[in-house]
Formats: sequence, structure tokens, C-alpha cells
Amino acid sequence: MELPPRPTLFDFYGVSMTKYFTDNWDDIQNFQARPDDVLIATYPKAGTTWVSYILDLLYFAQTSSERETSIPIHERVPFLEIIIPSLRSGKDLADQLPTTPRLIKTHLPVQFVPKSFWEQNSRIVYVARNAKDSVVSYFHFDRMNHIQPEPGDWSNFLQKFMDGKVVFGSWYDHVNGWWEKKQTYSKLHYMFYEDLVEDSGREIDHLCSFLCLSPSAEEKERVTTGVKFDNMKQNKMINYSTVEIMDQKVSPFMRKGKVGDWKNHFTVAQNEQFDEDYRQKMNNPTLKFRTEV
Ligand code: PPS
Repeated sequence: MELPPRPTLFDFYGVSMTKYFTDNWDDIQNFQARPDDVLIATYPKAGTTWVSYILDLLYFAQTSSERETSIPIHERVPFLEIIIPSLRSGKDLADQLPTTPRLIKTHLPVQFVPKSFWEQNSRIVYVARNAKDSVVSYFHFDRMNHIQPEPGDWSNFLQKFMDGKVVFGSWYDHVNGWWEKKQTYSKLHYMFYEDLVEDSGREIDHLCSFLCLSPSAEEKERVTTGVKFDNMKQNKMINYSTVEIMDQKVSPFMRKGKVGDWKNHFTVAQNEQFDEDYRQKMNNPTLKFRTEV
């Protein structure tokens, strides 16, 4: 496959985006959600793949073991808004999903979510990750992923992240926008990457009660084991090693999987500047993130 050119960022209704997530806009906005769809929504690098795989195993591991060995995660859980030349669009993959429920991934800020999800009252799992680890993970991802703009050097990228000049826009607006939505939309489960790292069993229990699932103790054990970082990293259907647009020699998709890796990237001065800027942007005291566990 010929690698697509690195895209440029542009302002799209107030959010920084690229053509690989906007070229299919009308189709995305007209996407027909179903009441039993489960949408997994995140700002990039928050643990989307982790939660996608948890839900995939909870729903389908029992009935379809072949799925686990033959279908990569990005086909099991299509990325709704992605459109790359010569590959099937996320919207088409989602339309053609044979499963019930359909698990669908999105990075869209809440105001861009197709309205049928709200009309159908579909369940939504939102995963949020602290800003400092998100920006570190995003930096390495943009280095290795050819459909992302060039990240530049670390200090440059950090500034762009603070300015919301990265794909899918401002982290601050994203996590706040979805947090506000949770106050009025009851079928939204808002969870945190740091909680998953701290106690994945507890978080899987919360997911099950939100989704009205009751796995047996053995099923739950299988899920908890399968989704451990090292197991996902080795799993070719999960680690994105089949995706050519990602150069995993530059940085692996399953990179570190830790809370606190930001400490290896931020200088003292960058940290102070970031904290000051953060205080100004994050003024809702009910939404709290942990940068260490
Ligand atoms: S994407 O491209 O936006 O869909 O990426 P996403 O899947 O949201 O996030 C990738 C980061 O999640 C980490 N990850 C995990 N951490 C701990 N445990 C498990 N099981 C796990 N699975 C994925 C992955 O390593 C990326 O984080 P970093 O910090 O880069 O390692």
C-alpha cells in the first residue's frame, strides 16, 4: 500500500481537524445509530483500544472465538469518522458490522456526534486520560502514524496541544464537553484511564453494570487477563501491527501503558507553564484527573 501523504490541520467548525476525519462528513452526520449500539468515545490516546477490547471480549469472546484470532480490532470496532483513500471508511465498516450490539469508536468532540446516537438513546462509554500523559502518548503516536500531521519536536508539540492545534482539537474542550453531556444524558458512562490502570477488575465491573452484562467469574477472569498491557502488546489482532500507516519501528502503538510517563518528558519549566495554563482552562471542580496513581 502506498502511504497516504501527511495531512495539514485546518479549522473545522472551531475544532482542528484533518481531511482524514472530515472528508466523509455528511455520511457521518447521517449515520443511523441503533438503540443497542455502544459508542466508545475518547480524545485520542485515552485508552480507546483498551476499552474497545474489553467490550469486544465481554460481548463476543464466548460465542465467537474465531473473531479473536482473525479480525483486527479496528475492524471489530470501526472508527466511525476515518476515511483514508483506498481503504474502507469507518462509516462503511460500521454499517456492515454483523454483530449485535455494534461496537463503534469515535474521537469526535461531543457536539460532532451524529444525532441519531442521541435520538436512539444508544449507550456511550467515554474514556478520559489525564492531559499530561495524553499529550506524551499523542506526541509519539504522531511520530509513527502517517495519517497524522508531523508533530515537530516535543516542546513544539506540547505548545500545540495546549493551544488545541492538534487533530480533534482541544483536549480541555473535549473532556469538559463530554463531562457536561453526562449531566443530562443518562446512558453515558464516563470513565478514567487512571482508574483502569489502578484496578481494571473494578472498572470492568462498573462497565458490566452499565451495560447490563453479568459474566461468570471465569469469563471475567479471561477478559481481565486478555486485556493486560503485555498480553495486548503481543496480540497481533490488537496491537495494530497489521496497519501499514503506522511505523511501529518509530514508536510502538502499545508503547508504555503507564500513568506518569509525562515525568520523563516534561521539563520543570514546561510543567509549571502547563499547570498554570491548565488551571485557567479547567475550572469545573467536579472533573478531576490524576497524573499519578
Ligand atoms: S488511539 O490511537 O487514540 O485509539 O489510542 P488509544 O487506544 O486511545 O490509546 C493508546 C494508549 O493506551 C495505552 N494502552 C494501555 N495502557 C495500559 N494497559 C492496557 N491494556 C493498554 N492498552 C492500550 C497505549 O499503550 C497507549 O498509551 P501510551 O502511553 O502511549 O503507552
